[in-house]
This record gives sequence, structure tokens and C-alpha cells, in this order.
Amino acid sequence: MVSSLPTIMEIRQATAADLDAMWDIFQSVIAAGDALPFPDDFDRGTFQSHWFGAQTSYVAAAGSDVLGMYKFGANYPGLGAHVASATYLVRPAAQGRGIGRALVQHSLAQAQSDGFLAMQFNYVVSSNAPAVELYKKLGFTIAGTLPKAFRHGQLGLVDAYVMYRFLQPQDT
Ligand SMILES: CC(C)(COP(=O)(O)OP(=O)(O)OC[C@H]1O[C@@H](n2cnc3c(N)ncnc32)[C@H](O)[C@@H]1OP(=O)(O)O)[C@@H](O)C(=O)NCCC(=O)NCCS
Repeated sequence: MVSSLPTIMEIRQATAADLDAMWDIFQSVIAAGDALPFPDDFDRGTFQSHWFGAQTSYVAAAGSDVLGMYKFGANYPGLGAHVASATYLVRPAAQGRGIGRALVQHSLAQAQSDGFLAMQFNYVVSSNAPAVELYKKLGFTIAGTLPKAFRHGQLGLVDAYVMYRFLQPQDT
């Protein structure tokens, strides 16, 4: 159990005032080259449209300090719209303190109350132990493996996982 979760941290819906901090977190994570399949030159306008477009974004904040964030929404429209998907990022300096766990738990509760049947992660890099282990601890299983789907900055080609868990009783 992580004991250093900031006690004054809140998770709230992101606003335009959070954009600078969110963009900064995103750039730091992308620069590490080990977790997400975005190019180095991914631009701020595209980031803004992803995080303030069709999906809903939340931030973990301690006062004015944004420590982490997630966005979530339907994984597919129409007949696939009962399955949610989400993306989580914690500021590198704040990782390992329980913020990621708090964000995933928040998103699961949010997706559940919004009536989604399941949550799917489309692209979890297999070498990303903090993400894979956290998701497993919170009830996700590896539904499939995409062989050598991610070009890791240090490790070269590694697998990526599709991870999945139900949110509601399975007979609904
Ligand atoms: C993945 C990420 C969101 C996790 O957030 P975090 O705040 O660092 O994680 P937490 O401190 O909440 O730790 C979550 C759990 O994973 C475990 N964990 C963390 N690092 C681990 C590691 N290297 N090996 C095994 N387990 C690990 C922790 O022990 C913790 O378990 P616990 O809650 O039972 O104690 C964060 O590391 C991150 O933003 N990474 C870069 C972006 C990313 O990978 N996003 C996900 C894309 S799929």
C-alpha cells in the first residue's frame, strides 16, 4: 500500500485552466518513450482536441498543482458504445505514490455510474510494469497480446496488451 498519497489531493473534471499543466505532463511522459505510442512532435492543438473533445477529462490536483490526469469515454460508438476506454498519466515526479491507483479507481466508478458494461484498454505496453500490475490489481485481465506492437525507446520491439474487465453483472 502506498502511504504518500497527497492528503489534499482531489480528483475533479479538467478545465481549460488545467491545459498547460496537462500538456506538460503529457510531454514528459512521451519523452520517456516507454508507455504511449505518440510521436515526439505530437502537437498541443491535437492534444487539446483529444483531451477536451468527445471524451471527458479529469485531473488529480493538490491545490493548483496538477499531479495526474485521465480521460475516458466510449471505446467505440454505436453498437460498441457500452464499453469504455481510458488513458491515465501521472506526472513522472509524482509516480509511485498511489495517484495512478486513485485515478483508475475514480474512472471505474465513473464508468460504472455512467452505465458502461466494461472497460477496455487498447494498448498497454507489456514492459510498463506500473500500468500492467496496477490494472491487474484492479481486476483487469489480459484479453490479448499484440506481438511487437510497440517500439520501446530502450528495449526495442515489445508486445502490447489489450486489457479488459466487466463493470456490471455480466448478464445485463
Ligand atoms: C501507469 C501510471 C498511471 C501508474 O500511476 P502511479 O501513480 O505511478 O501508480 P501507483 O503509485 O498508484 O501504483 C499503482 C500500483 O502499481 C504498483 N506498481 C507500481 N510500479 C510497479 C512496478 N514497477 N512493478 C510492479 N508493480 C508496480 C504499485 O505497487 C501500486 O500497487 P498498490 O496500489 O497495490 O500499492 C503512471 O506510472 C504513469 O503515468 N505512467 C506513464 C503513463 C502510462 O504508462 N500510462 C498508462 C498507459 S496504459
